[in-house]
Order: sequence, then C-alpha cells, then structure tokens
Amino acid sequence: MEHTMAEPTQTPGAHSFDIRPLEESDKGWVRDALKRYWASTRQVTKNRLHQADELPGFGAFRDGEPVGLLTYDIRDGQCEIVTHNSLAGHGGIGSCLLAEVRKLARERGCSRLWCITTNDNMPALRFYQRRDFEIVALHRDGVVAARKLKPEIPEVGMDGIQIRHEIELEYKL
Ligand SMILES: CC(C)(COP(=O)(O)OP(=O)(O)OC[C@H]1O[C@@H](n2cnc3c(N)ncnc32)[C@H](O)[C@@H]1OP(=O)(O)O)[C@@H](O)C(=O)NCCC(=O)NCCS
Repeated sequence: MEHTMAEPTQTPGAHSFDIRPLEESDKGWVRDALKRYWASTRQVTKNRLHQADELPGFGAFRDGEPVGLLTYDIRDGQCEIVTHNSLAGHGGIGSCLLAEVRKLARERGCSRLWCITTNDNMPALRFYQRRDFEIVALHRDGVVAARKLKPEIPEVGMDGIQIRHEIELEYKL
C-alpha cells in the first residue's frame, strides 16, 4: 500500500513509501537494522526474550530501499509491538507502520495492541501517547532484569539517562 506525505507534521516534498509484510528475503536487512538500532537481533520485554528477526512484521520501502521496520508478536489474543523503527527521519514512516499493525491486530481479533519503551525514551512516550496509547504499567527495574537475558542493552540511553525501567503502553482494540 502506498502512503503519501499528507499529515501536517510531515516534511513538505518528502517522498512517498510503500509498506508491506516482511518476507523471507528481507531477513538480511532486518537483521542489520535490528543490530544497528537495538544492539542485537534479540529483544527483551517483560522478561520475555524475543528473537526479533524471526518475528512477523512490516517493512517500509522507498525506491525499493528499506526505510522502516516494525516487528510484532501475537499471543494470548494480544498484539505486542516488539520493535518499531523509522530508518529515515520523521516523515510519517513510524505512524504508517503503526497504522498497519493496528489494522492487522484488529483483523486478528486481538483485544489490545501494546508495547514497551524504556524510561529514557521520551520521543517514544510522546509518539505513542499522541497516537492514543495509554501508559498502563511501570515495570520498575525491568531493564535491569532484561540485561540478564540480553547483556548488550546499554546502561545509558537518550540524553545520558540511565536505562532501568520498562514502561508499558497499550491501545485497546
Ligand atoms: C518512534 C518512531 C518509530 C516513530 O517513527 P517516525 O517515522 O519518526 O514517526 P512519524 O514521522 O510518523 O511521527 C514522528 C513524530 O515525532 C516528531 N518528531 C520530530 N522530530 C523527532 C525526533 N528527532 N525524534 C522523535 N520524534 C520526532 C514528529 O514531529 C512527529 O510528531 P507528531 O506526534 O506531532 O506527529 C521513531 O521515532 C523511531 O524509530 N524511534 C527510535 C526507536 C524507538 O524508540 N521505537 C519505539 C519503541 S519500540
């Protein structure tokens, strides 16, 4: 599906992009992107270790090149966004990926869409809350525990803030 830059916050003149479900042939760039943005192909949320490159997801592409990635995990009738990245600035890619997974989660009959961000990640907290997600839990020292499963999680995150806690956000479907 084709997305054009129509929202007021988007860069005038920015290019359009396509979003489609990930395929086996995407594995190479998906692994590279996960390693680059999340230090590894593994992701830990609420004490669960996800092999993110094995998860289903969506890719955003501009002129055939990947510009966005979202992976998700559906279990127990809920859809978790496990990773979510724009690989090319802030021109609406993240919002469109979110719209795709929200649509899919609805179609699959999920009761909610949810995700974890870390305590340092103010842009993500802003992003999801502005898109009608609600903070539903603070998992205190959740990241401290996650490092036992994924030692490559850095100690310090955005703006020099210690990464310690998991913040759970949800969108009821
Ligand atoms: C969260 C994320 C996926 C959103 O994707 P995106 O393509 O930037 O999203 P959009 O362009 O649709 O919207 C971005 C919003 O952030 C704003 N923004 C502008 N500059 C920004 C910046 N430097 N950092 C973050 N957000 C910025 C945009 O103005 C827009 O604001 P709005 O809510 O007023 O519309 C992306 O910022 C990202 O890759 N973050 C790093 C990874 C991450 O934290 N993922 C979430 C947890 S898994």
